[in-house]
Amino acid sequence: TKPVTITSLQAMRDRGEKITMLTAYDASFASLMDMCGVEMLLIGDSLGMVCQGHDSTLPVTIEDVAYHTASVARGARTAFVMSDMPFGSYATREDAYRNAVKLVQAGAKMVKIEGGAWLVDTVRFLSERAIPVMAHLGLTPQFVHQFGGYKVQGKSTEAAEQMIKDARALQEAGAAQLLLEAIPASLGKAVTEAVSIPTIGIGAGPDCSGQVLVMHDFIDVFPGKKARFVKNFMQGQDSIEGAVRAYIREVKDGTFPAPEHCF
Ligand code: KIV
Ligand code: NA
Repeated sequence: TKPVTITSLQAMRDRGEKITMLTAYDASFASLMDMCGVEMLLIGDSLGMVCQGHDSTLPVTIEDVAYHTASVARGARTAFVMSDMPFGSYATREDAYRNAVKLVQAGAKMVKIEGGAWLVDTVRFLSERAIPVMAHLGLTPQFVHQFGGYKVQGKSTEAAEQMIKDARALQEAGAAQLLLEAIPASLGKAVTEAVSIPTIGIGAGPDCSGQVLVMHDFIDVFPGKKARFVKNFMQGQDSIEGAVRAYIREVKDGTFPAPEHCF
C-alpha cells in the first residue's frame, strides 16, 4: 500500500470517499490502526487528559506532543501522522513555526491549531514554509475557559455564518484541512460545502469529508464523562482490531455518526 499523503486525502474528499482518523499516542496502537487501514493518525493534545490524567488539554507541552509523535511515527507505515500544537505554542506565527518544526522533525506531516480567522496569518506563514496546517473550528478545547466549559458551538445564526467565513478565510490562507468539533450537523454540512479542502468531524454530523474519535473513547477505556458524539466500538467485538475495523466500516458506509451522535 502506498503511504497516505495530503494529496491522496484531498483526492478521497474529491471523490466522496470518507476519510477515517483516530487519535494515537504510542507505537503499538499506531501500528494496529495503520494495519487496519485508518488513513490518518492524530497525536492530539487530548493526551493531557487520556494519558496524563489532567482535566483539560492546557498543561500539555510541545515536548510532550513531540515525544508521543515520535512514538506514533515509529509505529505507522502508511497512515498519515499529524500532531496538535498545544496550548501556548502558537501565540505568534514565529512561535508557531519554531514549535511546528519540532513536531515535523518528530514525524508529523501536518500540524493542527485551534481557532478561526485570527489564525490566517499563522496558517499562511507555516504553509509557505512547507508545513501543512489543519485548522480546528467549533468546540476548540484550548478555549475551555473562554467558553466557560465544553459547549456545542455555532448554534446561533451569527456564529454559524462567522464559522463559514472563518473556514473560507483559512482555506484561502492555505489550510490543507479543517477539523470541526461539536457543532450542529447542519453547520458541519454547510462548512463542508463552503470549502474545497477536506473537513474531518467529531460531533459535526455525517456530512464532513471524514470522522475522528479519541482512541480511549472509541474503545471505551476513558473513565471520564462521555460526549454525545462518542460511540463504543468494542460493542459486539472481541478485540481492539475488531473495533478499529468496525469504526472504519461504519465511517466509510455512513452509519457512523448516527443521529444520536449529532447535535
Ligand atoms: O486532541 C484531540 O484528540 C483532538 C481531536 C478530538 C480532534 O483534537
Ligand atoms: Na486537540
